[in-house]
Amino acid sequence: MKIQGKVALITGASRGIGKAIALELAKQGMKRLILVARDRQKLAEVAAQIEALGVETTIMALDLTHSINVNIAVAQLWRSYGPIHLLVNCAGVAHQNSFLQSKLPQLQEELSVNLMGMYTLTNLIAKRMVSQRQGIIVNVSSLMGKVAAPTMATFPPPSLPLWDLPRHYVKNLPNTMSALSPYSLPSPKQTWCVTCNHSEE
Ligand SMILES: NC(=O)c1ccc[n+]([C@@H]2O[C@H](COP(=O)([O-])OP(=O)(O)OC[C@H]3O[C@@H](n4cnc5c(N)ncnc54)[C@H](OP(=O)(O)O)[C@@H]3O)[C@@H](O)[C@H]2O)c1
Repeated sequence: MKIQGKVALITGASRGIGKAIALELAKQGMKRLILVARDRQKLAEVAAQIEALGVETTIMALDLTHSINVNIAVAQLWRSYGPIHLLVNCAGVAHQNSFLQSKLPQLQEELSVNLMGMYTLTNLIAKRMVSQRQGIIVNVSSLMGKVAAPTMATFPPPSLPLWDLPRHYVKNLPNTMSALSPYSLPSPKQTWCVTCNHSEE
C-alpha cells in the first residue's frame, strides 16, 4: 500500500516506539495521523511536532482497556476521518519482575492493555477495513514472547499471541497483516520484522 494521502491510527503514540512510528509515517507522506494514548497533553505535544511537518493530526485520549469508550471512539473517528487505511497497535505495558516477585495485577494489566486492548480496537477497525476491502494492521510485539527473560515474568503471555494472531487473522482479511517485533531501543533500524500475508497461506 502506498501511504501517501492515506490515514493511519497509531496507539501508544504519546511516547516511545509509537511516537517514533507516528513521526516516521508523517515524514513518509501520510495524509492524517490519528494518535491514541491516555495522556492528552503528551499526545498534543506529539501532534504539534507532526503538524510542523505539514501532516494533519487528530488526538484521541483513550484507555484501550475501556472497550465501550473504544467502541464509541472508533465510530466517531471513522465518521469524521475514515476510512482508516493503516492501524499500528503499539500501546503496551511491560512490568519488570522475576516470576516469584511478580503480582497478579501486573499480569492482568499487561493482558488487558497489550492483548485485549489490541483485540478490541483491531476487531472494530478490521471489520470496517473488510467492508472497504482495504487496510493494513501492524501489531508491535516483543521477542519476550519467544525468548525467556528472567526479569519479565508476566510479559510473555500477552506478547506471544501477538506473533501468531496475524497468521490467523489474515485468512479473514483482504489485505496483508504484519507482526512487528522491536527488540532493541532506541534503534528502529535494529527491529526484527515478522510478516504474514496471503501469499504465505
Ligand atoms: N521498548 C522496548 O524495548 C520494547 C521491546 C519489545 C517490545 N516492545 C513493545 O512495544 C510497544 C511500545 O513500547 P514502548 O517502549 O514504546 O513503550 P512506552 O514508551 O512505555 O509507551 C507505551 C505507550 O502505550 C500507551 N498506553 C499504555 N497503556 C495504555 C492504555 N491502557 N490505553 C492506551 N494507551 C496506553 C502509553 O501512553 P499513555 O501512558 O499516555 O496511555 C504509551 O504511549 C509495547 O507494546 C511494548 O511491549 C517494546
